[in-house]
Amino acid sequence: MAPARPLALVTGGSSGIGLELARELAGRGHDVAISGQSDRVHDSARQLEQEHGVTAYPYRADAATFDGVEGFWRFVADLDRPLNVACLNVGIGIGGAFADTDLDDELRMIAINCTGLVHLAKRVTRAMLAQGPERGERRILVVSSVSATTPTPYETVYGPTKAFGFSFAESLREELREHGVGVTALLPGATDSAFHHNAGMGDTVYGDNSWKNDRTLVARQGIDALFAGEDHVVGGDDATQQQAVDNRATPEPVKAARHAEGTRPAPR
Ligand SMILES: NC(=O)c1ccc[n+]([C@@H]2O[C@H](COP(=O)([O-])OP(=O)(O)OC[C@H]3O[C@@H](n4cnc5c(N)ncnc54)[C@H](OP(=O)(O)O)[C@@H]3O)[C@@H](O)[C@H]2O)c1
Repeated sequence: MAPARPLALVTGGSSGIGLELARELAGRGHDVAISGQSDRVHDSARQLEQEHGVTAYPYRADAATFDGVEGFWRFVADLDRPLNVACLNVGIGIGGAFADTDLDDELRMIAINCTGLVHLAKRVTRAMLAQGPERGERRILVVSSVSATTPTPYETVYGPTKAFGFSFAESLREELREHGVGVTALLPGATDSAFHHNAGMGDTVYGDNSWKNDRTLVARQGIDALFAGEDHVVGGDDATQQQAVDNRATPEPVKAARHAEGTRPAPR
């Protein structure tokens, strides 16, 4: 007999914001399928089970590849349970001057942040529509960024990948509205995780995690907005919320210059 608990999936759910999204959902009684690129995903799943008494299903795969994304989807589909929540969270950044950054690294980032997002969203959308409303709620959270609301010099490809996610989520939301499937975009501001270190931005102001938003707060705001049916939510403290509002009214060149102050790599 199928477990009574609803099922959620979280990509990049083994650490950072994704683990906190999974934790928040587990705390609200969801079993969770989480993906990650390292063996850490297994430890994180055990942790979630111990903390919340739910079942966590870990899957290790490279989200930059078609097979990695499809493999996670097959893993979830093979659970043979209705899928109630999908958090399309996994994403990476790359800092540095565009003239210097590696093209293959950037194409890999696009594969994770954009191609992989579309790929898994396609699978999730079709499954949720086929499932129908009688098997519980159906909600999709797309993790974008405040970077979607500004040019991002010295992360010149990253910001556009997040703008893609934001626009994609708002469009998909409108399409799925009449079918009762909710779509919400989460736009975190700078958040304490390994993200900027992994992006090679350790020598910028983003190398220091102490001033950034708390990832548990960001995740809670995202899941609250998802269940409230909001179209999008900014993740972070009051200053982050204000920054997103100000970005709407600020000319692009002004925002670009401001962003560059924080992201320009230190001279060697
Ligand atoms: N942190 C921020 O300041 C910030 C701000 C705005 C938006 N965001 C967005 O929030 C999302 C989560 O970011 P985060 O801060 O939580 O970053 P993070 O700490 O670097 O996230 C790591 C997660 O992504 C997984 N991952 C990384 N590369 C992968 C790959 N190739 N294949 C499969 N899994 C992979 C990691 O797996 P392992 O644990 O196995 O390594 C881990 O689960 C991203 O979409 C990011 O763009 C972050």
